[in-house]
Amino acid sequence: MSEQAQCWINGRLMPGSEATVSVFDHGLLYGDGVFEGIRFYQGHAFRLHAHLKRLMDSAAAICLAIPYTQEELTQAVTDIVAAFAEPEGYLRLMVTRGVGPLGLNPASCTQPTVILIADHLSMISENQRQRGAKLVIASTRRLPADGLDGRIKSLNYLNNILARMEANQAGADEAILLNRNGHVAEGSAANIFIVRDAQLFTPHPVDGALQGITRSVIMELAVSEKIPATVCALTAYDLYTADECFLTGTGAELIPVREVDSRPLRHCPGPVFSRLAEAFTNVIYQETGIR
Ligand SMILES: Cc1ncc(COP(=O)(O)O)c(C=O)c1O
Repeated sequence: MSEQAQCWINGRLMPGSEATVSVFDHGLLYGDGVFEGIRFYQGHAFRLHAHLKRLMDSAAAICLAIPYTQEELTQAVTDIVAAFAEPEGYLRLMVTRGVGPLGLNPASCTQPTVILIADHLSMISENQRQRGAKLVIASTRRLPADGLDGRIKSLNYLNNILARMEANQAGADEAILLNRNGHVAEGSAANIFIVRDAQLFTPHPVDGALQGITRSVIMELAVSEKIPATVCALTAYDLYTADECFLTGTGAELIPVREVDSRPLRHCPGPVFSRLAEAFTNVIYQETGIR
């Protein structure tokens, strides 16, 4: 937590240092809840509507009734961004099942807890971004959709954390999770794209990829930049033999990849990545008025 951190909990705005939640909150006890990570630039939350829509979908999928409308959450975001000392930062929006007795039955919780945090987030150093990320394919597999569908952005990130620990142990920057079929799903906190013969490819959500907001911006930019883009099944082989590879995410923004499992890629950053990165910066500029 930085000194500037601000929090909004169930309608009350306060400095991060004063924010507390109950130890009986089922978000803490059982990871029962959903969340969003949102960036703001020049005091404007980027693609807020899409984030709120995904939050509502995640909540609907776990039968969690959010006690605020999209308009009320938008107002809460406006208020916390205004209270934050700097125009640029990161928001964490969480909705938990709320406080209840011990025992995981969600029916025992009557009032969901809604939390917003505004702070800074930097997933990797500028140095790492410049040289490109080193990836490893984790032995930890993405949970199947009939276990926990990867499209639900839930507070259960242990699967991703175990994968990320493998990356740390291997001295890599990020881990890639495969699903049970050996298809590439995504990184521990980012989506993945490869480029082959000047065409983009990215995994399908049914293979375990989150429907990333940044991923969707890249798909839109591929259309405007006339770069053919396909959502399809990919395996480790596709990553090892790609011309280019990159990660996308709200925390990550866009990160070029330089090697996967010790196989150096042909280009890092590659020409397609560089074009998309410039176009991405322009979209942020157009939609939030900076850069
Ligand atoms: C598991 C996972 N995949 C992908 C992403 C990227 O999604 P977005 O671009 O919406 O931030 C995230 C972001 O937090 C994530 O946690």
